[in-house]
Amino acid sequence: MHHVEEMIGTSPAMCVVFDLVHKVAKTDMPVLITGETGTGKELIARAIHEQSLREQGPFVPINCGAIPETLLESELFGHEQGAFTGAVQRKKGRLEGAARGTLLLDEVGDLLSSLQVKLLRFLQEGTFERVGGQETLHVEARIIGATNVDLKAAIEKKRFREDLYYRLGVLQIHLPPLRERGEDTLLMAMRFLRYAADSNRRAIWGYTSEALQAIRTYHWPGNVRELNNRVRRAVIMAEGREITPHDLGLTRETTQEGGDPLDSLKVAQRRIEVEMIVKAISLHRGNLTRVARDLDVSRTTLYRKLREYNLQSLVPPVHHPVPSAFPIETLS
Ligand SMILES: Nc1ncnc2c1ncn2[C@@H]1O[C@H](COP(=O)(O)OP(=O)(O)OP(=O)(O)O)[C@@H](O)[C@H]1O
Ligand SMILES: [Mg+2]
Repeated sequence: MHHVEEMIGTSPAMCVVFDLVHKVAKTDMPVLITGETGTGKELIARAIHEQSLREQGPFVPINCGAIPETLLESELFGHEQGAFTGAVQRKKGRLEGAARGTLLLDEVGDLLSSLQVKLLRFLQEGTFERVGGQETLHVEARIIGATNVDLKAAIEKKRFREDLYYRLGVLQIHLPPLRERGEDTLLMAMRFLRYAADSNRRAIWGYTSEALQAIRTYHWPGNVRELNNRVRRAVIMAEGREITPHDLGLTRETTQEGGDPLDSLKVAQRRIEVEMIVKAISLHRGNLTRVARDLDVSRTTLYRKLREYNLQSLVPPVHHPVPSAFPIETLS
């Protein structure tokens, strides 16, 4: 599985991210991924792993915020028999499990300071001991950290070690919130809808204009995860063939009134074109002849735009054969 290919995004902000993923994947250095909740940090960590030379090795995620502090050290570094009550036998930690692969420390900002020291040592020397163990172990694992809190602020509050930050954060990838990804939001909304409609066997074609407007202007605090959840719920709830703002649980109060912030003309043009195309495809259920007619462009222009904005995937090639001048391969 190649997660980067599954990751949806053609906005300039996400192109920067994909480019960084490509670059850092080739090294063995630690990476720090930052971004609000639901922006795809875990997906990006997997993508880095899968594009790296460690691709054949394990990818081991551990959520430092979700495991009780008393268990985390042993979960991470393992323990020896009798290290503590209940340690009836030796156990390897996730770090050892990630040998020749990648260890993702999710919510790394939640690590206790004693574990921060242990992690720092591992990053510097590649060595550690199991809980209750004397033996110094070496493991060859790449560390990726992810956080949705501002580690710089945590350093100020003495909750996060500065030396660890500088070790871990040499290479950083920041995932922009969904509201800064322009047309990616609509693209995802369409893709998630297709998927949810197919897997629930519901004949839902698209969104009403009001719904598209709501999707575009809502501020998406839960980012991609929230979008996906709202679309999936809407597919179940919808009574018509098109999803309404009500189905999405997006009311007038939750979406912004008063138009869009100022964009460059180029960005605005792109946004409007994408929106019009998505709307028309949704309305005509992928029938490109009608889409082109409605938008008053030639099919050639429409195809060019579809490629330019990476919208080909919205058009089901099976139902709507493309003209011979545009072989399917160039569209997928
Ligand atoms: N670009 C994307 N394209 C498609 N799906 C995405 C994309 N980004 C995120 N997702 C999906 O959104 C959900 C949230 O992603 P993920 O778990 O990676 O976020 P996260 O940043 O780790 O969130 P949290 O901070 O809450 O742990 C997942 O279901 C993921 O598959
Ligand atoms: Mg996560």
